[in-house]
Amino acid sequence: MYTTSFPVDRLKDIPTPFYYYDLDLLRHTINTMKAEADKDSYHIHFAVKANNNPRILGIIAEAGLGADCVSGGEIRMALEAGIPASRIVFAGVGKDDWEIELALDSRIFCLNVESAAEMKVINDIARRKGLTAPIALRINPDIDAHTHDKITTGRKETKFGINIGLISDAMELVKESANLKLTGIHAHLGSQITDLDVFRALAERFNDIQDFFEDEGLPLQHINFGGGLGVDYVEPDNCIPDFAGYFNIFRQGTEARPGQSLHFELGRSIVAQCGTLIAKTIYVKEGETKNFAVINAGFTELIRPAMYDAWHHIRNISSKLPPEDYDVVGPLCESSDVFGTDRSINGITRGDLIAIQTAGAYGEVMASQYNARPLPKSYFSDSI
Ligand code: LLP
Repeated sequence: MYTTSFPVDRLKDIPTPFYYYDLDLLRHTINTMKAEADKDSYHIHFAVKANNNPRILGIIAEAGLGADCVSGGEIRMALEAGIPASRIVFAGVGKDDWEIELALDSRIFCLNVESAAEMKVINDIARRKGLTAPIALRINPDIDAHTHDKITTGRKETKFGINIGLISDAMELVKESANLKLTGIHAHLGSQITDLDVFRALAERFNDIQDFFEDEGLPLQHINFGGGLGVDYVEPDNCIPDFAGYFNIFRQGTEARPGQSLHFELGRSIVAQCGTLIAKTIYVKEGETKNFAVINAGFTELIRPAMYDAWHHIRNISSKLPPEDYDVVGPLCESSDVFGTDRSINGITRGDLIAIQTAGAYGEVMASQYNARPLPKSYFSDSI
């Protein structure tokens, strides 16, 4: 149990809204995760899309993690943070030519390819450069992740990965492509997965798939299971995810070959807990049936509730008054600009600081300037 506490005396003078990162909690989460992953020398590539704040990436790099990137921009950020190219993987259904060139020129570990069309382009670009491109086939294993529809990626009707029925064709294409070297297979089922059986199904599906590759004379040096481990949004103090349970599933379920490396692309489970969006209450608006706490952050700062119906714990860190029910809403001219409804929160008055917790993943990175709002700044526990 790690109890989150906020240094209100130091936070209260910072212009709101802003992201506050508890770096001790980040390091504690990384160390807990690594202790489990290191037992089997698993390779962890932090999913940069979850948080690309340079300070956070620096700590990830220091801890020796690799990076999972989905754009040329993310590859650059990972390299700048000090993550070696040899630990970078690159996924995405729509890699543009310049991004493929950057990946090849940087000599990253592997490109996770998602279609025959993409394989042909990578092969052409690699040939032009006189290089061999290391690739993994991203397979769409057709497994339901039992998570929100908008963050489900491993069902066959989604745009991601190569469908199981098309793997044979993809293998033929690999064999014909002189400038591609197939080093592994990859999948990513979705995000905020809390039903760990989903990962067991993936390990089993990959056992069959790897037999199939070996029968075709294509042994695999690595297997990449993607990311997706969910976090507890409801109880932020119980905030270290069950890394042991998660890795155990792969330890028990995967028929790894001697010398083969197993890779994971965790994003949310590493950074969600350490980040909090702090906003100030502008008004407490009394309605006929509800009280609204109108704060100075909106979905421009944290889009997850509006976009995925996400639930974040909301606290009033300025008040010890008895709790009352509020809808906590932002200032934007959109009815989806709501952080939580009917929340029991310590009595709110104008000026109180409101903490929206577990916002370190897909929070700051997804901020926008809609309504001509400035992007939020970030502050860190060791330097405020
Ligand atoms: N690998 C790939 C190929 C991915 O597409 C993702 C996330 C990850 C790894 C990392 O997954 P994680 O461990 O973070 O679950 N914006 C949404 C989440 C989108 C996830 C996109 N892909 C949200 O706020 O819930």
